[in-house]
Amino acid sequence: MKKGEGKQPKDMDKQVKIGLMGLGTVGAGVYKILKENRQVIFERAGTEFEITKILVRDPAKPRSLQIDTGLLTANPDDILADDDISVVVELIGGIEPAYQYIEAALKNGKHVVTANKAVIAAHGARLIETAAQKGVDLYYEGSVGGGIPIIKPLRESLVGNQIEEIMGIVNGTTNYILTKMSQEGAAFHDVLVDAQKLGYAEAEPADDIEGYDAANKLVILASLAFQTPLSVRQVYCEGITRITPDDIAFADHFGYAVKLLAIAKRRSDGIEARVHPTFLPKDHPLASVNGVFNAIFVKGDAVGELMFYGRGAGDLPTGSAVVADIVDVLRNRKRGAHHRVETLWENVPLRPMEDVATRYYVRLHAQDKPGVLAQVAASFGAEAVSIESMLQQGRGKDQPVPIVFITHEVKEKQMQASLERIGTLPSIKDIANVIRVEGGRPL
Ligand SMILES: NC(=O)c1ccc[n+]([C@@H]2O[C@H](COP(=O)([O-])OP(=O)(O)OC[C@H]3O[C@@H](n4cnc5c(N)ncnc54)[C@H](OP(=O)(O)O)[C@@H]3O)[C@@H](O)[C@H]2O)c1
Repeated sequence: MKKGEGKQPKDMDKQVKIGLMGLGTVGAGVYKILKENRQVIFERAGTEFEITKILVRDPAKPRSLQIDTGLLTANPDDILADDDISVVVELIGGIEPAYQYIEAALKNGKHVVTANKAVIAAHGARLIETAAQKGVDLYYEGSVGGGIPIIKPLRESLVGNQIEEIMGIVNGTTNYILTKMSQEGAAFHDVLVDAQKLGYAEAEPADDIEGYDAANKLVILASLAFQTPLSVRQVYCEGITRITPDDIAFADHFGYAVKLLAIAKRRSDGIEARVHPTFLPKDHPLASVNGVFNAIFVKGDAVGELMFYGRGAGDLPTGSAVVADIVDVLRNRKRGAHHRVETLWENVPLRPMEDVATRYYVRLHAQDKPGVLAQVAASFGAEAVSIESMLQQGRGKDQPVPIVFITHEVKEKQMQASLERIGTLPSIKDIANVIRVEGGRPL
């Protein structure tokens, strides 16, 4: 007999009926966890539960999961209009019709658990409001970082802090590609094709490699951390498609790793929210997060630095986060304590990107002749950009040579103005790449 088998929690409620929307990767993971760990979840939740309907696109589709096909439906009203179902778990993905279904469920007085970052990033504030008005729960732990607990820590465990900074590796595909590029010296496109073959990248990879997926997740994290509504359109977003093996080799030379980071910072005049490739000192905790793993680094004024690390995707890791939310709903329901977590919505201004200050890595190709460095230095100097390190690699008689600079901290608008000047210098062939540097200097 397994531990706890046969025990009945005291004061057991009658069975709670759950409607599952979606039986793909995460839906199947949730179904498996609820089945495999049923007894222990039942004891912890203090309530019996049962999935009574599962919405799918095609109920006739063959499925590897052993399931009673009588549970499957293609009609959302079989869940949304069923008064016996009090918890809806939305795992179909995409904005529509998922948003419509979540809103309808909340309006019908049902608690909702979702892992849908697109819906929460786009409509989270409105849905939270609807849930509050109806006195029901809306939980979305699986929407950021897969199995990593980060929403609950921000919402509950760290609620006594002013959050100063969040920096996250929140997209496994791009972290896998950058890790492979740095370990093998391989080109971006070759690693992307391999990642697609291995199932780590989608056939349509733009959402990941252009940084949009990370931007959605940043909106969710920053809104919670700074208690302010934020839209994905406000987030500066730059992907990893321009990173070359040269950039990775120069980063390594200076003691940095290259990571796609989702960054949100509280400043005296507002908040910053941006997603871009970043040079991070190799001794920074995020620099050693490799492959498809995710991690979120948080700085609070009281707690100091924290890092949450784990699997950012997958059926069981994401299912673990979704099931934890379901148990929270069941526990709240049992105690009549719904919507117990209140969120204050401030209106913190967002700092325009041109006012954001970071250090920069700049890689140029220039003719190898006397006076070029002095011209580049003068162009930086004219916009008050000061240089921290410089490296010129090789000698090129007729070929342009790479010259790399790392600057001190400077505002984006000064950096852009200096790059405009540098771009007009006759001895400069091109500005090959510009990457922001975060996290201090390498030891
Ligand atoms: N995959 C991950 O590792 C991961 C991690 C974190 C968060 N998430 C989030 O979790 C959600 C689900 O992702 P997933 O990877 O599990 O998706 P998925 O594998 O594509 O599964 C989607 C499921 O929803 C059903 N479905 C899709 N559109 C529908 C519609 N309009 N009406 C009815 N059913 C519909 C599909 O039905 P059929 O089975 O009939 O096709 C399928 O069962 C997304 O919001 C995603 O962002 C996923």
